[in-house]
Amino acid sequence: MSGRHPGYRRSSARGAGFRGTFTPTGAAAALTTAAHLQTRPVPVTVRFSNSEGDPHTPDTAQVTRGMATRFHLHDGSDTDLVALTVPRFVASTPKEFLELTEALRPDPVTRQPDLARVHAFVGAHPHLAEAVAQQPPFPVSYASAAYWAIHAFIWVDAAGVRRPVRYRWEPESGRAALTAAEAATRTAHYLTDELHRRLEHESVAFDLRIQRAEPDDPTHDPSTVWPDHRREFTAGGLEITAPADDQDPWNTQAFNPTRVTHGIQLSDDPVLAFRAHAYAESHLRRSHNQ
Ligand code: HEM
Repeated sequence: MSGRHPGYRRSSARGAGFRGTFTPTGAAAALTTAAHLQTRPVPVTVRFSNSEGDPHTPDTAQVTRGMATRFHLHDGSDTDLVALTVPRFVASTPKEFLELTEALRPDPVTRQPDLARVHAFVGAHPHLAEAVAQQPPFPVSYASAAYWAIHAFIWVDAAGVRRPVRYRWEPESGRAALTAAEAATRTAHYLTDELHRRLEHESVAFDLRIQRAEPDDPTHDPSTVWPDHRREFTAGGLEITAPADDQDPWNTQAFNPTRVTHGIQLSDDPVLAFRAHAYAESHLRRSHNQ
């Protein structure tokens, strides 16, 4: 639990904005009419973050990291893709998420979660055991981690045919992680500082990997993954070139995982639908410095 931090996002409170370009490979064009997945490059803004709602959580903490990407389309509209450094969400439904949040509430004396309560939650929800046990990596760099958008989305082609997909950003330079002991020697802002330093002399790149569902793969449960051997391909390449000129808009605006565009629809995942409300409420409250 992160406590109250007026003016900050309720989750992923500390982050930084960057800009770059997304260039589609064209491999997705037969499967979706989405404008940014055809052939023309589009400008993007990316916000990397730590998942905690406490903006003072150091980069040395073992938390998930976020990568929120906004594609600025040529018709003046935007579409967002919001991803984390773990492939599964910790709950299948909004109700389970609220129950888990309750189970994790720190004990007022020890200020730590009550492990017996967490074990009881997992015992009562055995299908969540793998998701709750995930250990997010300590990335060497924000640019050396993979980021999963977790939910299934539905691509719609020019003939109206619908196909479920999942997204993952894969770092072009490969994944690289620190051990917990190595991470402990880094500074509180090592991830943001490293990316700023690196961008002074080179850009960083990610591939947008698409996983396609087989007919029986579930689309409603973000705590599950599809088998690794499902068909995958690269829909485009992201090149991040510089910090955003002005960080303020990225502190005051909100990403929204349900902000899709023509050619992409939401799946039947109830957590995905719920997020739209949670993000809007968080944005409203922080806009009023609450
Ligand atoms: C019940 C499910 C979830 C809830 C209630 C929730 C809640 C939130 C809230 C309130 C924010 C701050 C929004 C703002 O003030 O702009 C946020 C940010 C974020 N969430 Fe979630 N979240 C959920 C699931 C997820 C999932 C499944 C992912 C990954 C796919 C995710 C990734 C992120 C990221 C990366 C950010 C930071 C976005 C930014 O940089 O502005 N969240 N979340």
